[in-house]
Amino acid sequence: MVFWIFYPILLLTPVTAQTWATIPFSTQSLPIALRSPYLNSWISQGKAPFKTPFASSAWWPVFWTSSPPIMGWYVAIRVDGVTYPILGGFGETHQANQTAAIITPTQTTFALQAGPMSVNATFLSPIEPMDLVRQSMPFTYLYIDVTSSDGQPHAVQLYSDITADWLSGDRGMMCNWTATTESDYISLKTQLQSPIPFAEIGDQALDSTAYFSMAKQGLSTTWQIGRDTDVRGQFNTSGGLLQTQESNFRAISTNPPVFGMSIALGNITTTSTPVVWLLGLLRDPVVQYTNGDGNNELRSSYFWSQYTTPQGAINFLLNDFTRARSAGDAMDAKILGDAQKISSSYPDMVTLSARQALSAIDITVKRDDSGKWNVSDVKAFFKNMGGVGGPGVNAVDVLYSAFPAYLYFNPAIVGYLLSPLLEFQNSNQYALPYAAHDVGLAYPNATGNSNPHKQGIEQSANMLIMTLAHAQFTGDGILISKYYTLLRTWADYLVNNTLNPGTQTTSDGLTTTNQTNLAIKGIIGIAAMAKISEFAGDNATAAHYQTVSSNYENQWQALSFPSNTSHLLANYGSDSSSGLMYNLYSDKLLQLGVVPNSVYEAQTTFYSQNSTSFGEFLDMKPPNVTLNSGKDWMMFTASTASNSATRDELILQIHNFVTAGVTNEAFPLIYNPTSAEFTDGPAR
Ligand SMILES: *[C@@H]1O[C@H](CO)[C@@H](O)[C@H](O)[C@H]1NC(C)=O
Ligand SMILES: *[C@@H]1O[C@H](CO)[C@@H](O)[C@H](O)[C@H]1NC(C)=O
Ligand SMILES: *[C@@H]1O[C@H](CO)[C@@H](O)[C@H](O)[C@H]1NC(C)=O
Ligand SMILES: *[C@@H]1O[C@H](CO)[C@@H](O)[C@H](O)[C@H]1NC(C)=O
Ligand SMILES: *[C@@H]1O[C@H](CO)[C@@H](O)[C@H](O)[C@H]1NC(C)=O
Ligand SMILES: *[C@@H]1O[C@H](CO)[C@@H](O)[C@H](O)[C@H]1NC(C)=O
Ligand SMILES: *[C@@H]1O[C@H](CO)[C@@H](O)[C@H](O)[C@H]1NC(C)=O
Ligand SMILES: *[C@@H]1O[C@H](CO)[C@@H](O)[C@H](O)[C@H]1NC(C)=O
Ligand SMILES: *[C@@H]1O[C@H](CO)[C@@H](O)[C@H](O)[C@H]1NC(C)=O
Ligand SMILES: *[C@@H]1O[C@H](CO)[C@@H](O)[C@H](O)[C@H]1NC(C)=O
Ligand SMILES: *[C@@H]1O[C@H](CO)[C@@H](O)[C@H](O)[C@H]1NC(C)=O
Ligand SMILES: *[C@@H]1O[C@H](CO)[C@@H](O)[C@H](O)[C@H]1NC(C)=O
Repeated sequence: MVFWIFYPILLLTPVTAQTWATIPFSTQSLPIALRSPYLNSWISQGKAPFKTPFASSAWWPVFWTSSPPIMGWYVAIRVDGVTYPILGGFGETHQANQTAAIITPTQTTFALQAGPMSVNATFLSPIEPMDLVRQSMPFTYLYIDVTSSDGQPHAVQLYSDITADWLSGDRGMMCNWTATTESDYISLKTQLQSPIPFAEIGDQALDSTAYFSMAKQGLSTTWQIGRDTDVRGQFNTSGGLLQTQESNFRAISTNPPVFGMSIALGNITTTSTPVVWLLGLLRDPVVQYTNGDGNNELRSSYFWSQYTTPQGAINFLLNDFTRARSAGDAMDAKILGDAQKISSSYPDMVTLSARQALSAIDITVKRDDSGKWNVSDVKAFFKNMGGVGGPGVNAVDVLYSAFPAYLYFNPAIVGYLLSPLLEFQNSNQYALPYAAHDVGLAYPNATGNSNPHKQGIEQSANMLIMTLAHAQFTGDGILISKYYTLLRTWADYLVNNTLNPGTQTTSDGLTTTNQTNLAIKGIIGIAAMAKISEFAGDNATAAHYQTVSSNYENQWQALSFPSNTSHLLANYGSDSSSGLMYNLYSDKLLQLGVVPNSVYEAQTTFYSQNSTSFGEFLDMKPPNVTLNSGKDWMMFTASTASNSATRDELILQIHNFVTAGVTNEAFPLIYNPTSAEFTDGPAR
């Protein structure tokens, strides 16, 4: 169910042939504004035109979903009286010629030639994981540098607007607006006239307020709120705006109101400092959470512990731009440098996934009984944007696939994400002997989920593995000491069930019996419990779980790796089966040594001989059953390879998929490893 409205004018926009390159690698969907589950837009460009009837909509940012609506954000430059759209086609006769798109983990730059001026328009979505205030601010920057290419000064004005598309998946909903002009900045605000707290349509929140802001530079900064054709036309005609707003509040798509700001730079050869716009999509509270006492907590973005008004935060961020840009450059250098040490195609993968991973979460605090923000009570909430595993809040299996990113950026975030799951299940609201699938059925309602399910092994092991990883990477044993008994219940559940998983399922939708990959996850979970007990100073219990784990591993190997085969079977007793044994990843990550090297070596040889261009099938039962790859499990598997050549080959296969240009989705999770086609969920 997706609701979207297009602008009829798009039908008239010509489709321009692309002659530019995406640097450093070709990919078809570029991250633009990725700062929260709702401020999450990309641009589909490149070889595969965007999949709507209107190929020209490729010029507009789109939401992250697989049938994405346009998220109106228009940018234009006027040079010597001629207007060139930079982003968003709009009845133009002069299209700026794009020369390149440059992507880094925090920034996406479009380099264009607009008549005599060369232009860089950069979308910066900061990654500030160690700074919870900045990380939790759902704001993104656009900054523009221009330089004259003929050495002569030219009269330059810059313009950008947003539509109210950002407020709802139903563009028929009514919005209103206000302009705030202070001595040092302009901020244009729009919201739904009847917001619905915590509700969504088409994955868009219905309780957001969009703020589009700019620092003032004397009289040369102007603004206007009105119909798209009027405001953009005003800029086109005069290079400045009227500083007026229409008074007839209306639906998002009715004579679409736009929120425009422009700056006249005069006759220049170059900009000495970039021109900056700031887009924010604020919700408050961001999550409702049923706590261990059964009370409904309204939780706010962490940054509210520092700012009392949106204007305060906006002013801070506008003043913070120069630092934010340097910090973005430094973060890019660090991420790319670290990834380069692994393999040559890995930096490109983290370039696409860094913003994606961090924008899937909201980091929250709440007020204590006296009304003060309690910054010791931090909880983070994760929206499942992967298209598998259902819409649940902090969906444990999906969190498991993303948590290595949080471990890398700031392992404390893993603890903030586990905390609501542990607290709820430790309370008398939860009685199942295994771990829950999530902490609420649909984001952003973390109101608990006590429903029985068939992923008891999967989720219990995931919880034990992630809890130990948090303790190992932070050195902080707080979750272990607080929830030790609960963790032991899950470990005991694994002891009872994991060796013979029977018909238990995994997050991939695999329903076959006695899955090898699932059984070993449970066995690793038991070994993780041994380390958790050690962490808790309970050595006798640690020894017990250690013994069970190694005993089970021996039995598991006999069942899953019979002597007549060269690799692990996907299912006990199914001699022709094979698959991606991605759950071995946590044995390596946590340095548990559960599975012997001989098994890793056999699997590595198997992967090196059985891959296709774009990856491995997740599960194979020749001649006819195959399950598509997921980039997450491919990457997990790569990190279990016993030689770097095979590891690098597996990473390269995902890279091949990303650069194939067959799909134009926002770096999708699941795809067909022979055709590189996107599949929404596990397909056979
Ligand atoms: C600007 O106005 C001119 C003259 O009406 C028109 O030809 C051109 O298409 C307009 N450009 C944009 C970007 O709206
Ligand atoms: C774009 O490139 C074409 C072909 O080189 C040229 O004719 C046109 O003037 C360029 N447009 C701009 C805005 O620079
Ligand atoms: C745009 O960015 C590229 C790459 O960093 C740089 O070489 C070029 O000079 C920049 N152009 C402008 C107009 O700032
Ligand atoms: C816009 O609607 C919201 C929600 O109903 C309301 O609180 C706000 O006052 C309205 N703003 C204006 C300018 O009418
Ligand atoms: C969350 O719960 C509220 C009621 O508190 C409801 O209106 C809203 O639709 C729910 N959101 C989702 C995404 O289901
Ligand atoms: C820019 O230069 C043009 C032509 O040289 C001149 O007519 C115009 O007044 C100048 N504008 C400004 C803002 O200096
Ligand atoms: C703040 O949160 C911590 C952690 O949940 C809790 O222990 C403490 O009691 C809270 N403080 C107040 C004043 O509520
Ligand atoms: C494990 O099995 C034992 C023996 O059947 C049972 O007493 C215990 O409750 C089970 N524990 C869990 C957590 O399932
Ligand atoms: C699963 O494997 C165990 C151990 O080999 C076996 O006893 C059991 O029958 C199998 N279950 C199914 C449903 O095949
Ligand atoms: C528990 O085991 C750890 C690791 O083997 C060891 O360092 C520690 O001294 C042991 N503690 C006790 C109380 O025996
Ligand atoms: C794996 O590759 C080997 C060598 O090419 C081949 O003999 C074998 O049939 C393949 N196995 C599977 C399950 O595809
Ligand atoms: C292949 O498909 C056929 C018909 O759907 C089915 O009977 C058979 O069990 C399948 N083979 C495997 C190995 O799953």
